[in-house]
Amino acid sequence: MNLAVIGLQWGDEGKGKAINYLAPEYEVVVRYQGGHNAGHTIYHNGEKIILHLLPSGIFSPSAISVIGNGVVVNPVKLTEEIKGVEKFGVDFNNLVLSSTAPLILPEHEQLDVVFENSRYVEIGTTRRGIGPAYEDLTGRRAVFTGDLFDKDRFYKKIKPLNEYYNKLIRTFKGEEIELESYIDEYLEYGKFLKDFTKNSIYLLNNFLKQGKKILFEGAQGVLLDINFGTFPFVTSSNPTVGGMFTGTGLSHKSLDTVTGISKAYTTRVGGGPFPSELKGDTGDYLRKQGNEYGSTTGRPRRVGWLDLVALKYAVMVNGVDDIFLTKLDVLDELEEIEMVTGYKIDGDISTIFEPDHIYLDNVTPVIKKFKGWRSDTSGIKEYKSLPEEAKGYIRFIEEFSGVPVRTVSVGVSSEQTIKNCKE
Ligand code: IMP
Repeated sequence: MNLAVIGLQWGDEGKGKAINYLAPEYEVVVRYQGGHNAGHTIYHNGEKIILHLLPSGIFSPSAISVIGNGVVVNPVKLTEEIKGVEKFGVDFNNLVLSSTAPLILPEHEQLDVVFENSRYVEIGTTRRGIGPAYEDLTGRRAVFTGDLFDKDRFYKKIKPLNEYYNKLIRTFKGEEIELESYIDEYLEYGKFLKDFTKNSIYLLNNFLKQGKKILFEGAQGVLLDINFGTFPFVTSSNPTVGGMFTGTGLSHKSLDTVTGISKAYTTRVGGGPFPSELKGDTGDYLRKQGNEYGSTTGRPRRVGWLDLVALKYAVMVNGVDDIFLTKLDVLDELEEIEMVTGYKIDGDISTIFEPDHIYLDNVTPVIKKFKGWRSDTSGIKEYKSLPEEAKGYIRFIEEFSGVPVRTVSVGVSSEQTIKNCKE
């Protein structure tokens, strides 16, 4: 059974832990979208590691890790990341980089910065060049990993691009980028990455034919999706299920189950609407307790209660089969916990998630209160041992969203995971 693991909120739901936990059951783990804007935190032999581009199955000796054609790749960052995890004895014979993954160039990073100042609102991007790199794909200008291995081919494609970008950068008063300042360096990184680079589309389809079990690793989350998220406060790719097919070349027939990852509360980094946001002491408490600081940029995350209206929408647009609920233990000491069950606007109550930021900025959340369980759940191994209040909280999520909570995480290590959540 092939599985997709996707974030149901604004990213940072704990996908790294979930995938690292699930990966040993799978023979192939494939990233299909995003770039090094992602930060998937995993604990390997007690050590904290943040992966940005490498699939979270990289530490599973039996899994083949694939960076699919839908991922935008900065060759410098990927090389650094590979070298950084080499010391853990990772078998890189099991790493595959798609030859048709669009490249992130230094100009993209510069454009990411200047474009922020030219919008009617600031998105608060990670400034990694993700948006401009995807723009080049739809603009039919992109340069791919497979272009890095031949100097003439790379130069021919990149020279007019560099001129085009510099015109834009000049217009927006950014710093122009000299092609000569990075072209040789990029070609050197190309030599290193060549060994990993393959036609991932055929390779993945062959794995499928051979019956290998495949895990699709989503980055970011549904509410950051370019088509379904809180536009324009979104990323430039499709973390939702559709991205799996365009980002791998595997068809819809390859997917059996979709597991959605959700925190027991909500966080978001960067700008944009957040109806359940907590700005006072409780927010500060959750940020501290949950260590809610961006794993890529270090920015403090905005925090809020679990928003069931948004969660149900995320479940709907992805055909989610079950939920993997993370960070339940962060709520352990609270006397009272809240959830958002509707939005009040113009005297009406709605349970529709309109991904329109002006609408979402103007709704007042309808709150349901729960009594806290006020006991330590971090050592609990079985669902039946959870406090009654925690079980009630989980049951309410299931009833509202219409899908079961199959797994609950109560701490960072793999052992702190409660599976088969039934009485
Ligand atoms: P970009 O992906 O760098 O263009 O950033 C667009 C928005 O997505 C910003 O609000 C970022 O903070 C957010 N974002 C991008 N990647 C992640 C992630 O992995 N986790 C959480 N937020 C992210």
